[in-house]
Amino acid sequence: MKIAPSILSADFAKLGKEVAAVDAAGADYIHIDVMDGHFVPNLTFGPPIIKAVRASSDKPFDVHLMIDPAAPYLQEYADAGADIITVHAEADKHIHRSVQVIRGLGLKAGVSINPGTDESVLAPLLDDIDLILVMTVNPGFGGQSFIPSQLEKIRRVRAMIDGRAIELEVDGGVKPDNIKSIADAGADVVVAGSAVFGGDGGYEAAINALRAAAG
Ligand code: DX5
Ligand code: ZN
Repeated sequence: MKIAPSILSADFAKLGKEVAAVDAAGADYIHIDVMDGHFVPNLTFGPPIIKAVRASSDKPFDVHLMIDPAAPYLQEYADAGADIITVHAEADKHIHRSVQVIRGLGLKAGVSINPGTDESVLAPLLDDIDLILVMTVNPGFGGQSFIPSQLEKIRRVRAMIDGRAIELEVDGGVKPDNIKSIADAGADVVVAGSAVFGGDGGYEAAINALRAAAG
């Protein structure tokens, strides 16, 4: 199980050091939650901040764009150092074109769906994407509770992937006490914000606890 700590829950006053710390603690990806205050009711950071912390880790920058529109800005996130760019199906009228553009930039293309979005929207994209991000909270904030109804959706998305080289990433409310059910449902990667940054036992212990609980 790959662990992608979300820096949304990190200490923004020392973001570069936080990125380096979770890298050293064993993170597989650095999950970067970009929010525009329009697609979601929160505003976080954009290309300049991503550029500023790029040198703090060589791990893949897993950039989750919770912005609408996203298409006009894909080049900027590529230039800032993204390795994976994930766009929300709900925020793009031409999602197929956007995944083509992301791949054309030499990056991995991800598509995310909110808890209220049916996975069938992914069907036309399965041969053009590298990652599916299933939201298990309504996007905008860290520290929310996992929405149990999404477990079935994870199973259905796993079936849709059907052996393709697409990573299934789960995002929102992942904790040691639910990660096994998420892994069993078919997740390859989990995002963990508050589970990693919110504890007091250190980042390595938190990441190891998640991996151990995943089985
Ligand atoms: C929510 C973000 C998630 C969030 C995860 O909109 O996309 O990545 O930061 O944080 P936790 O793991 O605390 O739910
Ligand atoms: Zn996210």
